[in-house]
Amino acid sequence: MFTLLKSPSQIISVSTSGKNYKSGRNMNDIGVLENHSIVIENEIIKDIIPNNSNNKHSYDKIIDIKDKIILPGLVECHTHTAFAGSRANEFRQRLQGNSYEEIAKSGGGINTTVQAVRKLSLEELINLTKPRIDYFISQGITTLEIKSGYGLSYYDEIKILQAVNILKKNYLIDIIPTFLGAHTFPREYKNDHKKYIDIIISEQLPFIMKNKLAVFCDAFCEKTAFSPEQVDKIFTRASELGFKLKLHSDQFNSIGGIDIGIKHKVKSIDHLEVITDDDIRKITKTKIVSVLLPGVSFFLDYGFAPARKLIDNGAIVALSTDYNPGSSHIANLNLIMSIAALKMKMTIEETISAVTINAAKALDVNKKVGSIEIGKRADFAIFETKEYADIIYNVGKNLDCMTIKNGQVIYNKE
Ligand code: NIG
Ligand code: FE
Repeated sequence: MFTLLKSPSQIISVSTSGKNYKSGRNMNDIGVLENHSIVIENEIIKDIIPNNSNNKHSYDKIIDIKDKIILPGLVECHTHTAFAGSRANEFRQRLQGNSYEEIAKSGGGINTTVQAVRKLSLEELINLTKPRIDYFISQGITTLEIKSGYGLSYYDEIKILQAVNILKKNYLIDIIPTFLGAHTFPREYKNDHKKYIDIIISEQLPFIMKNKLAVFCDAFCEKTAFSPEQVDKIFTRASELGFKLKLHSDQFNSIGGIDIGIKHKVKSIDHLEVITDDDIRKITKTKIVSVLLPGVSFFLDYGFAPARKLIDNGAIVALSTDYNPGSSHIANLNLIMSIAALKMKMTIEETISAVTINAAKALDVNKKVGSIEIGKRADFAIFETKEYADIIYNVGKNLDCMTIKNGQVIYNKE
């Protein structure tokens, strides 16, 4: 089956000439093509042809995208989408001057959401999560990572991952499950950290790998969560079992997480609001993706990650919503791109590389998706505008009018 995506006003290819990521100043090169159309064969990008070419091919389907622009399907590489309950009360407390960390220390925060998730059945959790995935798809997102981390018991972590895997089967987009049992210590192990880590290492990780319930193992390295030594233990076991790794680190305190991430060759280190200059030098010597989450700084009202320093030193930077009920109750990736531009001084082009090819690299799917290049998956986000700067300029407004995954239209605004 051949499909032609005909005559967009711009193709934002984010082409990498086979490199499949963009670092440093290269993030500004987003490969804009005009007067071209895209040929899809089944689920793959077959060709990108000039509009005036003498092309006699016959197509099974022609989608006219005149006066619209087309980007690679967006990649949302860090979310906690499968959550339950509301933290509006804690939001109110924060507005009255209590800090997020204080709330976490007094037993709220992540553990508030854990109590809510534990009350739900598998089916209830699936039903809560579905409309959130639909909302991501309506924004042009075709690859979506979802973490566990709000169960924090053998049974409840597996319940979340089962829910994510059922959703993965039922949706046409790529959903990538991540195990985040090391999100924080659950209340019942508040005074016995060793026991909880034992449960992760000897029960959760082996079961999850055996049943292929997660691709990644993630951990939160922070004073209120796991120490570098504890993360080291968990990652050592996770690697042995065959998990790919990613890490939450340097959100509030820089306590050695970057070294542990580098030691274990994680695919991405996420947050980095307080990363030191020394650690910037270390991370830019690796191919680890720096996933920045400016929605968190905005929502919790504290300093942003040093995006400029990272990029100017050659880092591979990605952006994500970190959609969750406590630190970034924001599911709008467009808004995140605009915040990144306005508050972290990223260029419009850098924000586009950060939600496409570099976000794909953070999930280790960058050979398949993240750019419009021949041979890659036919995943696209089509925006109702003639000029790509409009995406970031329209703060918080969703301009996506069509989402295509593996050559199939999965969302059409009309
Ligand atoms: O990425 N940093 C840790 N975890 C989440 C927050 C989760 C929550 O507050 O519920 C984050 O910001
Ligand atoms: Fe997170």
